[in-house]
Amino acid sequence: MEFSVQTANPAKAETACLVVPVFKDSGLLPTVAKLDDASEGFIGQLLERGDFDAALGNVQMVPFAPGLGAERILLVGLGEREKCQEAAFIKALDAAMVALAKLPIDEASIALNDVPLTDRDPAWKARKVMEAAERAIYRFDQFKSTPAPVPSLAKLTLMASDTESVALIKQGALVGNAIGQGISLTRTLGNLPGNVCTPRYLAEQAEQLGRDSKGALDVEILDEEALETLGAGSLLSVGRGSKEPSRLIVMKYQGAENPDEAPHVLIGKGITFDTGGISLKPGEGMDEMKFDMCGAASVFGTVKAVLEIKPKLNLVFIVAAAENMPDGHATKPGDIIKTLKGLTVEVLNTDAEGRLVLCDALTYAERFTPASVVDIATLTGAVIVGLGHHATGLLSNDDDLALDLLDAGEAAWDRAWHLPLWDEYQEQLESNFADLANIGGRPAGTITAACFLSRFADHFPWAHLDIAGTAWHSGKQKGATGRPVGLLTQYLLDREADVQIENSDS
Ligand code: BES
Ligand code: MN
Ligand code: ZN
Repeated sequence: MEFSVQTANPAKAETACLVVPVFKDSGLLPTVAKLDDASEGFIGQLLERGDFDAALGNVQMVPFAPGLGAERILLVGLGEREKCQEAAFIKALDAAMVALAKLPIDEASIALNDVPLTDRDPAWKARKVMEAAERAIYRFDQFKSTPAPVPSLAKLTLMASDTESVALIKQGALVGNAIGQGISLTRTLGNLPGNVCTPRYLAEQAEQLGRDSKGALDVEILDEEALETLGAGSLLSVGRGSKEPSRLIVMKYQGAENPDEAPHVLIGKGITFDTGGISLKPGEGMDEMKFDMCGAASVFGTVKAVLEIKPKLNLVFIVAAAENMPDGHATKPGDIIKTLKGLTVEVLNTDAEGRLVLCDALTYAERFTPASVVDIATLTGAVIVGLGHHATGLLSNDDDLALDLLDAGEAAWDRAWHLPLWDEYQEQLESNFADLANIGGRPAGTITAACFLSRFADHFPWAHLDIAGTAWHSGKQKGATGRPVGLLTQYLLDREADVQIENSDS
């Protein structure tokens, strides 16, 4: 989505539609008061007469706007002033953007900058505007015979209430636009069916991103032969029962001034379909296991955002891709496999496959001597029991890294919650026959899954994000959410800020 920032009098803005936010039972915001003055009290009258109920998320298009440069106005309810915080602001934005996307217009202006939000600056609000716009125009109907008409909305003008905020709004909109596009890519990859989105398809996507980046992204694909030579027996064990060959996808972005600066590494779980393997899952809802590559999809989405923002950082993105199927070659419960690290694993349940692909990717990451490693995975149903669908589960071997990720989630409003990774839990992974087992029994399933990964993350600060509850919606709204691209991009941008602070200190 194109965007520009404008400081001129909002009453004079010549636009097809001007978005006007209003609180319920409370005074007009400064910008809206200006509009009201210029239109001889038109907006105030609409509210006074009760023609618009400013309940949170209510919208109403008014097809004319006397005295204003706008051809129409779109009133958006913010609800009660005291309750207007992040979630409410985003809800109002979504409602406004969905309404705009339905209109036969290709541009609109939006005056949301003076909505008061505690601790949120104009950059944050602008970012959320762009993210909401991208979300509203997102469509996934490539498999429908008659796709719905594509929204014509292609450009937004963000009204700044003062000149000081212009730079912030521009920066926020740029980042929001990049994250929005990253989220859309993540959603599309997630939504694609398992018969299209295979490990080889994901590898092609990486190569496409590499080509589009004009040299900014270096892509390497390891096929099964290369993985065999390397000794990635754990990753390979997961795809054994599938006709689709596994892949390890490695993408490198070198943006730091110092080419030798240690990279930050993101690793995504890319199980393009998880039947459970021989430990077969029950049939009900199994279609949703096409979303078992949403960790990988969030890595691709973050790559997309990074290529747009071009931070001065060195980054490595790894996707461990396989399809978990049961056939005559499939790994069986009780089988013992050898990981890339050399540790042996007794596979007690072939449905605990995510950790088996991730452990080899973690070992592979060692070669980059990373500054940090974060893996993203739809790893356990247990995280949904614990945290539901709002918070991503966060576990880490490094409290500073955990805090950085929590902060990034808070800043991006894509939040995570920290769970313990105490040594006491490690015992649950003991095996009578191998170095460790791939499951730790019923108690604390999310934690023991992370314990398993931690055995392969002893050479760097590492964190694990369990997104099984947050990566997609079920039910009527079934579809990938694009989380946690916002968190991940914010985390990386904050690392760039760290480097700048270090440089200015020395
Ligand atoms: N991909 C699933 C996790 C999952 C389940 C995500 C349901 C979202 C909804 C993962 O591979 C899995 O099957 N995990 C098992 C682990 C168990 C066998 C220890 C689980 O959570 O049941
Ligand atoms: Mn599974
Ligand atoms: Zn899985």
